[in-house]
Amino acid sequence: MKRLGILTGGGDAPGLNAVIRAVAKVAGAEGVELYGFRNGYSGLIRGDYLKLEKQHISGLLHRGGTILGTNNRENPFNFPVEEDDNIVYKDMSNKAVDNLETLKIDCLIVIGGDGSLAIARELTEKGARIVGVPKTIDNDMQGTEQTFGFDTAVTTATEALDKLHTTAESHHRVMVLELMGRYAGWIALYSGVAGGADVILIPEISWTMENVAKKIISRKEEGKPFSIIVVAEGAKNPKGEQVVRETIEGSGDPVRLGGISHLIARLVETTTGFESRATVLGHLQRGGSPSPFDRILATRYGEAAARLALSGEYGKMVSLRNGLVTSLDFGDISSGCRTVPTNHVLVNAAKNIGISFGD
Ligand code: F6P
Repeated sequence: MKRLGILTGGGDAPGLNAVIRAVAKVAGAEGVELYGFRNGYSGLIRGDYLKLEKQHISGLLHRGGTILGTNNRENPFNFPVEEDDNIVYKDMSNKAVDNLETLKIDCLIVIGGDGSLAIARELTEKGARIVGVPKTIDNDMQGTEQTFGFDTAVTTATEALDKLHTTAESHHRVMVLELMGRYAGWIALYSGVAGGADVILIPEISWTMENVAKKIISRKEEGKPFSIIVVAEGAKNPKGEQVVRETIEGSGDPVRLGGISHLIARLVETTTGFESRATVLGHLQRGGSPSPFDRILATRYGEAAARLALSGEYGKMVSLRNGLVTSLDFGDISSGCRTVPTNHVLVNAAKNIGISFGD
């Protein structure tokens, strides 16, 4: 083994740089070169890469984002190419595999979410040697108990809830905080419990405005004329539909959710008479320095991925199982997103302490 490659794909998440650092340290100790491809698969296809040296790795552990850049639009199997002043989409996957061979990359480490790792699996079927590292703040990936980035997003959301509490109490208002998570409610559930929310609305549990209003009114009757509602961006509206903010052409996952909190704030005002305000926390959840937990998880994942690559165990993703870092074959990862089970221990505990899920 002489040379490893690495890329970060999809939306960024705090801890990406910590994975790169861990891979680089193991590679360096084994005398193996490490090439970083810029901007996800785009760099692999366009031949845009750099050799990662000690100076690139220094000071990376606590840095948010990714020094390699990332991209959630350029899928090698449907890659945007300029032709006669137009953008046309072409299958460039053979070029991706060929470039790895030409550059004599023995194994490529792909740090990505479900989209980037599905691409990794398809490239593996075409002969590429790849090891995957699961990443997303949404914590919705199959095949692992936790992704790095999630803990930091929960911390950021919890800090926002602490701040919303004081203004909700001063103004006797109902504050609605909308959080990311796509089709899963993990961030809303965990930060809702950590931040003392009164109501948590997630995509997995259908809710009615009547039940939400009941909770707000019962708090008022207990002498607490303010409430906090946490809503996951993927929670459905009372008609059972998700609220779409925009559709992004060329993206593997074109739907961007967003806007449900404004609808809920309006409904709160009309059904309870309480003044209500909506806050969309947005990309603050993806930014900044990773939490200690995420630094550790990212380091463990990076170290394990480098070890798999060095020992020739390709076509696998590192994963967390019962607190231990292990791995599984790409082919053994279930499809779809890992949603919150409606009987999850934290849902049950939250209900037992009086948090309403509107159901
Ligand atoms: O998957 C991570 C995530 O932040 C989701 O929670 C969110 O729905 C989406 O990405 C936002 O994507 P973009 O950065 O393209 O707006």
